[in-house]
Amino acid sequence: MDYKKTLLSPIKIGNRISPNRFFIQAMECTDADAEGNPTDLTYKRYENLFRGEAGVITLEAISITDKSRSRQNQLLIMPQNEKPLAQFVKRLKEVNPNALFIFQLTHSGELSHPGFSRRVCVKPLPGYGGDVLTEEEVDKIMDDFVMAAKIAHAVGADGIDMKLCHGYLGSQILRPYNDRKWKYGGPWENRRQFAFDLYERIQKEVNDKNFLIGSKISAWEGFPGGFGTAGPDTPVMDLTEPIDLIKGLEERGASYFVQSAGSPSITISLTQADKKSPYFAYLHMGFAKIFKENLKPETVVIGSNYSVFRNGKNRLLAVTPEESSLLTFGASNIEKGYVDMIALGRQSFADPLLPLKLREGREDEINYCTVCDNCLELLIQQSPIGCCTFNKYYTDVLIQTRKEKGRLKQDHT
Ligand SMILES: Cc1cc2nc3c(=O)[nH]c(=O)nc-3n(C[C@H](O)[C@H](O)[C@H](O)COP(=O)(O)O)c2cc1C
Repeated sequence: MDYKKTLLSPIKIGNRISPNRFFIQAMECTDADAEGNPTDLTYKRYENLFRGEAGVITLEAISITDKSRSRQNQLLIMPQNEKPLAQFVKRLKEVNPNALFIFQLTHSGELSHPGFSRRVCVKPLPGYGGDVLTEEEVDKIMDDFVMAAKIAHAVGADGIDMKLCHGYLGSQILRPYNDRKWKYGGPWENRRQFAFDLYERIQKEVNDKNFLIGSKISAWEGFPGGFGTAGPDTPVMDLTEPIDLIKGLEERGASYFVQSAGSPSITISLTQADKKSPYFAYLHMGFAKIFKENLKPETVVIGSNYSVFRNGKNRLLAVTPEESSLLTFGASNIEKGYVDMIALGRQSFADPLLPLKLREGREDEINYCTVCDNCLELLIQQSPIGCCTFNKYYTDVLIQTRKEKGRLKQDHT
C-alpha cells in the first residue's frame, strides 16, 4: 500500500480543496489572555501547525460568550475579539495559505465553570446541574452562535464547526436524556431541530457558499441517555438519531462531519482511547464508516482517534506493527472508502510537522504521541497545554503545575 500517496492526495470539501487528508483536531490549550484573545503561546502553536502542512486545521473550541467557558483561559469569539482574531488568521495564512482554517464554535452549557461562567443546562444531569435554560435564553444563545460564525467569516476563517460533541451544550440538547417538555426537548423531531435551526440561521446570515459549515459529533456518548443511545435511561447504543442528524444537516448543506464519541467528563477513554485500552479507537473507525455509508459520497467524513496507533509501536494485539500504524491504518481506511480524512489530536501536539515530514520523506524524524495523556492533565488543571514529552516548555509547565496544584490521579492512563 502506498500510504504516502493516499494521505497526501487532495480532497474537495464543499467548494474548497484540502491539499491532503490530514485534519488537525480542535485541541483546547487554555493559553488565551484575560480578554480571550490569542497570546504568544497560541501564535506559536498554530504557526507550527500551519508550517506542518495539514490540509485542514481546526481552531480549538472557542467560546461564543464569556459566560459559556469551561476553562478560564479559553479563546473567545465576541465582537471585541474580532480585531485580534483577524490579525491571528492573517498571520497564519502568511505562514501557509493553502491550509483550510476552521473555527470550532462552542457553548459549554452544563460544563461551563461556575467560578467564571454561568453553568446552565437543559435538564440537570446528576453531578452537573446548573440553571435550567428558558426557551428565550436558548434563542439568545443561538444568536450568539450566529454572531460568532459571522465573526469567524469576517476574520478570514474558511469555515466553522458547530460543536455538537463531547457533552457541551449541542450534545446536551441532542441527547435522549433531554426529555423535558420544551421547544428542543422530548421527541427526536424536537431535539434535532436545534441543530437544524442553528445550521439554517448560520448559513442564512453568513451567506457565502464557499464558507464551510460542518460539525463534530459524538456518535455514541456511552452513558445512559447520552446521544446515540436508545432512550433517556439506557446506555444501549442506537445510532438511529445520529444518522438522521447527519443526513438532515447534509440536506441543509453541511459539507463535512468530524466523527467522535464519548463525553470526556463522563466517558473519557471513549473520546480518546488511552494506553490501557487502545482498541477503543477501533470503535471510532466503525462509527466513521457508518457516517460515510449514510451520506452522499461528496460529503467529507473525518475519522478520529488515530493518535494511539503511533508508528505501530502500540499495545494492540493480533495485528502487526506495519499494519497498525497511524499512517497505514489511516490510509487503508481511506482506500477502503470508510473515511475521507484522518484527524490528529494528541499527535498534533507531539509533532505538528507530521504531514510536512511525510511529504519530504523524513518519516523517521516524526515524533509519535506516547499517549502519556499529560496534556489531558494540563487541561484538567487549566494550565497552558502542549506536548509534555517532546516540548521542553510544556514539560516545565507540567512540573510547575504539579508543584502548585498537586499531581492529578488519572485512572485512565
Ligand atoms: C488537551 C486536549 C484538548 C482537547 N480539546 C478539544 C476541543 O477543543 N474540541 C474538541 O472537539 N475536542 C477536543 N479534544 C479531543 C480531541 O480533539 C480528540 O477528539 C481526541 O483527543 C481523540 O483524538 P486523538 O486520539 O488523535 O488524540 C481535546 C483533547 C485533549 C487531550
